[in-house]
Amino acid sequence: SANLIKLDPSRVLGAVDDKVYSGFLEHMGRCIYGGIVDFDSTVPGLTNEKGYRLDVADALKELNMPVVRYPGGNFVSSYHWLDGVGPKDQRPRRPELAWLGEEPNHFGTDEFMEWCEYMNTEPYLCLNMGTGTLDEALAWVEYCNSDKNTYYANLRRKNGHEKPYNVKYWSLGNEVWGPWQVGQMPAADYGKKAFQWAKALKLLDPNIKLVACGCTGFEEWDYIVTQALISQVDLYSIHLYTSSDDHYKNVTGTAGAERGIQICSKLLDLAKIQQKAYNADVKICFDEWNVWDGERAPGYLGAEEQYTLSDALAVASWCNVFIRQASLIGMANIAQLVNVIAPIMTSKTDLFLQTIYHPFLLFCKYMRGESLNLHVESPTYKGDTGCSFTESSVGGELLWVKGVEPAIPMLDVSATKKDGIITIAVVNRSLEDDLTTKIVLEGDYKETVTVYTVHHDDIAATNTFENKEVVKVEESTCKLGDLESYTFRKHSFVMLRIS
Ligand code: AHR
Repeated sequence: SANLIKLDPSRVLGAVDDKVYSGFLEHMGRCIYGGIVDFDSTVPGLTNEKGYRLDVADALKELNMPVVRYPGGNFVSSYHWLDGVGPKDQRPRRPELAWLGEEPNHFGTDEFMEWCEYMNTEPYLCLNMGTGTLDEALAWVEYCNSDKNTYYANLRRKNGHEKPYNVKYWSLGNEVWGPWQVGQMPAADYGKKAFQWAKALKLLDPNIKLVACGCTGFEEWDYIVTQALISQVDLYSIHLYTSSDDHYKNVTGTAGAERGIQICSKLLDLAKIQQKAYNADVKICFDEWNVWDGERAPGYLGAEEQYTLSDALAVASWCNVFIRQASLIGMANIAQLVNVIAPIMTSKTDLFLQTIYHPFLLFCKYMRGESLNLHVESPTYKGDTGCSFTESSVGGELLWVKGVEPAIPMLDVSATKKDGIITIAVVNRSLEDDLTTKIVLEGDYKETVTVYTVHHDDIAATNTFENKEVVKVEESTCKLGDLESYTFRKHSFVMLRIS
């Protein structure tokens, strides 16, 4: 056949940072209350004594997430962390300006830290650069990380937590470029302000890692902010959501993310040179990504997407992007983890795994180690893409548009090797064609290859509380010799494990 996937395991592109399988929780809709915790549940065994949803915790533990970002998102830009610590009955109930809800503050910093410990994951906190002050940010770092005899460190002790939490990752605001953001400001203003915040925060705790607030990676904002902050930060955050009711746009949108990563990494290199920040080593932190259509599932209604098989394939393509670009990525956080644009959906009594959970779980489990260079020959997609190169997320001029649109192959592939096992992840994006492919792989391997498949005849198939396993992972095997001519069925995701 004309289709080809060729790989030589000695051609390593870079190490896959485990942190690409990180997550994000926001005080938004039913993500925290009703998702992570349910303090009012009377259903026997559903929650523990701390109110954690145990079924949610179990489904998340499978993903083995190294880091979870919290508490927003847009929410953080009018969030005062002090409202969320201390005796629960004395915590203020506040109006919430991102999603126009009310925040009871029953889950706050200490509850999040305890939940992270329970989940064996590392916290990543986002600072309020909207209504928040630098003093307040410094106080939060002191509360979380200081072992000194000072006010906020002592407040933590008074609240029952003797030892510092040592939160390593802190981000300097969220989507400060967005018209929806409380405290939105121009890039140059953000650059100046964040520079001063970074300096002070690192004086207080030199061990923290700071994350700059970038845009999509290919906006004018990114040029200005990389230049302003290259010497001060450890990671550079970008965000993108892709979606379309048109299958091809849905599954090709990820090519925009891939190009964004490449462009952004070049901007970081340029900033390093132009600002003479030769010691800077700033990787990209893709700390919000997923399939999300804000009209289909509006934020103020809790953004409860009902994911299809097409969306599952898009998520597999998202993960392929992170593997192929592994050398440029320090962290990536699927947004979000439960109920709100999430792989897990709960009711008061039950839970189901959305279609997107399944390919994501396969990546979390198996696509670790080192990313491999690939040669892929497949038909390319010629129609309209879902790349967001045609419109600017900030509503202004895009600097980086014409001439950088990627060519998009029908077979979307990435590969890793870990402990001698080669794993190949393949999305066949085609609606029409099964693609028979020759897989050429250097080296000696066992006769039996493990195959995981996510597929359904209906591209619009979804999982629901009533039918939880419409789209799921099927495990099978094939022979090494079958790779000579392997058929990837139309609109399917396949992961091959070759040991
Ligand atoms: O994840 C939902 C929202 O999307 C986040 O609050 C915000 O950062 C982004 O616009």
